[in-house]
Amino acid sequence: MNGKRILLIVGGGIAAYKSLELVRRLKERGASVRAILTKGGAEFVTPLSLSVLTEEKAFTDLFDLKDEAEIGHIRLSREADLIVVAPATADLLAKMAHGLADDLATAVLLATNKQVLAAPAMNVRMWQHPATRRNLATLQADGTLFAGPDEGEMACGEYGPGRMAEPPAILEAIARLLDAEAAPLARGTPLRSLAGRRVLITSGPTQEPIDPVRYIANRSSGKQGHALAKAAAALGAEVTLVSGPVALPDPQGVTVVKVETAHEMLAATLAALPADIAICAAAVADWRAADEAPQKLKKQNQVEAELKLTLNPDILATIAKPGPKRPRLVVGFAAETENLVENATAKRRSKGADWIVANDVWPGTGAMGGDTTQVHLVTAAGVEDWPPLSKDETAARLLARAADALSALRSAAE
Ligand code: C5P
Repeated sequence: MNGKRILLIVGGGIAAYKSLELVRRLKERGASVRAILTKGGAEFVTPLSLSVLTEEKAFTDLFDLKDEAEIGHIRLSREADLIVVAPATADLLAKMAHGLADDLATAVLLATNKQVLAAPAMNVRMWQHPATRRNLATLQADGTLFAGPDEGEMACGEYGPGRMAEPPAILEAIARLLDAEAAPLARGTPLRSLAGRRVLITSGPTQEPIDPVRYIANRSSGKQGHALAKAAAALGAEVTLVSGPVALPDPQGVTVVKVETAHEMLAATLAALPADIAICAAAVADWRAADEAPQKLKKQNQVEAELKLTLNPDILATIAKPGPKRPRLVVGFAAETENLVENATAKRRSKGADWIVANDVWPGTGAMGGDTTQVHLVTAAGVEDWPPLSKDETAARLLARAADALSALRSAAE
């Protein structure tokens, strides 16, 4: 974003202090920043701190004749590459949606021909209020883009969606809009958010005991499942990660339920419902020992020994069954070593999943336990071949697709 010009409008919310951090980070990335402070914004941060950080005058009042003569509200918006409203309060969003222009910030927003990115920040009840929902829908239809809000503890002591997105997330959204190399978002494309959505993810292998010291398992590292949980949390979702034994740290901001066997994983998964999206990325052992020996099995010098196996429950197929608790989007993974797409397509039907992410786990691919993967997304519409990506990138891409699918399902239902 080197050389890009950002016009930052700071509304009146406690999150205004984060906007100072945003200015600092924008400047570090080579952008120039001009700031407009609303009357409410000036209750939380001062024009002086904004002007020190932006190295420009901070603008505050539409009717300041000197400012109007020198620069004017039209020029303020013309001389920007992007307008960022952070924090965008419920009141500011309402004014924007209705075209009010009774101060400098709203006059600039009404007069602009530039892309506007808003980072909403408000109390959870205000965010959920039908009036705010209507205003957001109007603004989205008008082409305003959104970053956040996040879900979490609020300054007022309540919990839920409405916290302003953190400066790095807003910065990322700005970079996506301004950096030529990053695929620019078309005007009117809402930035994805899973705020207020529940996402359930299974990850890792399961361990099926044979006796107190031995078990059946597989080579799954849990990297993909954990990356999915992180990506869902980054989009603001409330995430439950049901994980088999892995050597990975718990992702931040995620509820982690640790299990060992397929039966425990099934129980934990069912207990985490309802969810809007379920992604079964765990490599569940298909079989378990039919009878777990209570004592360590002794080798009695026999050349051969038999182990009787019995089929484990299929977690994906269980939660994908039609019913009131079925998540609206159920996604499975298919790790195959041959006939990848054919098997994944058949698996999508037999398991009742909406999507199957197929990946080749032939030992040479390094997918099992490695950091990169190449997948094919099998949906009802067909097969998409994705390029080789890191597991984090695959996760971010899949969650972005899932967020879009959820919005499309909601619009279709409305
Ligand atoms: O049948 P297969 O193991 O190839 O299917 C893979 C998909 O099914 C994955 O999404 C995996 O998490 C899920 N699965 C499951 N429970 C099982 C076996 C597989 O949820 N017992």
